[in-house]
Amino acid sequence: MIGRLNHVAIAVPDLDAAAAQYRDTLGAKVGAPQDEPDHGVTVVFIELPNTKIELLHPLGDNSPISAFLEKNPSGGMHHVCYEVENILEARDRLKAQGARVLGDGEPKIGAHGKPVLFLHPKDFTGTLVELEQV
Ligand code: CO
Repeated sequence: MIGRLNHVAIAVPDLDAAAAQYRDTLGAKVGAPQDEPDHGVTVVFIELPNTKIELLHPLGDNSPISAFLEKNPSGGMHHVCYEVENILEARDRLKAQGARVLGDGEPKIGAHGKPVLFLHPKDFTGTLVELEQV
């Protein structure tokens, strides 16, 4: 059911420093920071030949990644995103198998303008999983 790895998201305490490291030290193609107020994050997209990296930094007071950064002050891998063809079919299949969908269970429009859902990390080997319809 899942397709390509769309991106790996990394929460970082200092977005400028992390973007500079990927650009200057690792030699990657790094985009400009984008505020995503609906998701409580500022994102920097890094394009790799086979996938993307998203650097996430909290935006506003109720950011979903603030608690993560408190637990991981130097930053860390936050989630992986897999592509699916039909997000509602994927959700219903996963729920039928006992997986927990975060939030109200309805897809939201993600950072790439496409519907996304998040699955509970405790149901997926300790990893927060995002599904994105492509
Ligand atoms: Co993501």
